[in-house]
Amino acid sequence: MKKVAVIAMALLLGLAILVSCGSSIVKENTNEVKQTESHQIVVGFSQLGAESDWRSANTVSMQNAFLPDEGYSLLYKNGQQKQANQITAIRMFIQQEVDYIVLAPVTESGWDSVLGEARDAGIPVILVDRRVDVADKNLYSCWVGSDFELEGKKMAAWIKSYTTSIGMSAEDLHIVNIQGTIGSTAQIGRTRGLANAARENGWDLMAEVSGDFTETKGREVMAALLKRFDNINIVYCENDNEAIGAIDAIEAAGGKVGADILNGEIMVVSFDGVNKEALDYAAEGKISCIGECNPMHGPRVKSLIEMLVNGETPDKFNYVDETLFSANKLVKEVEVDGVIYEIQDIGK
Ligand code: AHR
Repeated sequence: MKKVAVIAMALLLGLAILVSCGSSIVKENTNEVKQTESHQIVVGFSQLGAESDWRSANTVSMQNAFLPDEGYSLLYKNGQQKQANQITAIRMFIQQEVDYIVLAPVTESGWDSVLGEARDAGIPVILVDRRVDVADKNLYSCWVGSDFELEGKKMAAWIKSYTTSIGMSAEDLHIVNIQGTIGSTAQIGRTRGLANAARENGWDLMAEVSGDFTETKGREVMAALLKRFDNINIVYCENDNEAIGAIDAIEAAGGKVGADILNGEIMVVSFDGVNKEALDYAAEGKISCIGECNPMHGPRVKSLIEMLVNGETPDKFNYVDETLFSANKLVKEVEVDGVIYEIQDIGK
């Protein structure tokens, strides 16, 4: 009797161990089936795409933050710049019963339904980089990323300070804006920062055309703008990849890029400061100023998830501090809304 009881106890114990340390089945983006220890925290990450060097750095930062050795299993899905793909990914994460969903949304609108589904399933959603425009802000726990409008305002302040210091008057600034993906938080903020400054200062903002944050589109759009206007002297690119494409197009058309506007150069400014080629261009003056956009959000998202795991409530909006990079010595700092931002000199 005693022996049977011991065997039964052992079997029960084994079953209990299997249940507590057992494995659940989750699918990865390759559609392979992967065994995941059930005590790991499963995070489904819907990345919007791979359109820029910034995005690649951001994806790597996320992948390095959620490591199996540290108790995480990261399911990564690339949305290829299409909201429909991101919605499908979120539904897949819900089906797989992940613990947290991290969303880097391609554009702001159109998320109410799918985020409602995540909430009904009891899965907290953390937004990273860009934001969503939803009626009910409780559809997501929190957000971490850049203040894109502030980035735009700082760049506009730099343009103002530089052009004033070389003696240009406002109406002589003939600007084109190569925008990012229309409807994305980064585009909305950076476009607004420039458009407001142009209106307030009386600058000639001649065109706003999307380059979709890619080098190819930046090149294409710039080539078309050069055919349309013969007096462009400032090109405001909403990211570095577009700027690299735009510079190619200007040079191919026989133009010269640089800050010497008074002697016919076309000044290019942009955002990010991640791509090596863009930073080299900035160091040699081909890009006159880069507004930093920091992509290293992996550890930040991880801390937010850790707070949620511990039952804490993180701040709803978490902004990252950012600077401006330039090799140009004329502007040392800019002031926006009463705050002084120093320019980081990256000259050789
Ligand atoms: O949302 C951040 C922006 O998206 C970066 O500036 C750009 O490079 C990326 O594609």
